[in-house]
Amino acid sequence: MQDDRELLTEQENIDQGTSEGGQAESGDRRKFLTRVGWGSLAGFLAINSLAFLRFFYPRVLFEAPSQFKVGFPADYPPGAVNSQYQREFGTWIIRLQDGSFFAMESKCTHLGCTPSWMESQKKFKCPCHGSGYYISGLNFEGPAPRPMDRFKISIAEDGQLLVDKTIKYPGVPGKESNEVYPQSLLKV
Ligand code: FES
Repeated sequence: MQDDRELLTEQENIDQGTSEGGQAESGDRRKFLTRVGWGSLAGFLAINSLAFLRFFYPRVLFEAPSQFKVGFPADYPPGAVNSQYQREFGTWIIRLQDGSFFAMESKCTHLGCTPSWMESQKKFKCPCHGSGYYISGLNFEGPAPRPMDRFKISIAEDGQLLVDKTIKYPGVPGKESNEVYPQSLLKV
C-alpha cells in the first residue's frame, strides 16, 4: 500500500513537470510570435514612412547647366584636346594649331557612345563600333554617318571661355565643320 502511494506521487510529479514544461514551451512560442509580429509591423511602418518622406522630396532632375565657363585661353596649349569637361558637360574643348578654339559634343554620331581622344594617333575613336574622327570632328572610318556636333564658344566678360550648349552646330555628312560653321571657331 505504501509502495502504491509512492508510485502514485512519483507519477503525479512527472505529470506536473510535463505540464510545466509544455506551458514554458508554449510561452516561448508566444513570445517569439509576438516579436515577429512587432518586427513586421515596425518594418512596414518604416517603409511607409520613407515613402511618405520621399513624397515631399522634389522630383527634380539635376542637370549640368547649359552654359559654363572653362577657364582662360592661356590655359590651353595649341593642338590639344581637353577632356576635362567631358564627364560633367559632355564637351571637349579643342584648340587648333592656329590658336582658335571650338567646343565639341563628346558624343558619337552613330549611336551616341563617348569616343576617346587617342593622342598618339591624333584621332577620336569610338569604343562601341569603331568610328574614327579627326580632331575637327570629321568622321573618316566606321559607321558614324556625319561629323560630331559643336557648341558655341565665346569669351565671357571676365575673359574666360564660355560654352553655350543651347547653340549647336550639327555635323553635316561629308563636310568639314570648320568650313560649314566658321562661327563655331573662336579666334583669340
Ligand atoms: S556608337 Fe560610335 S561607332 Fe557606334
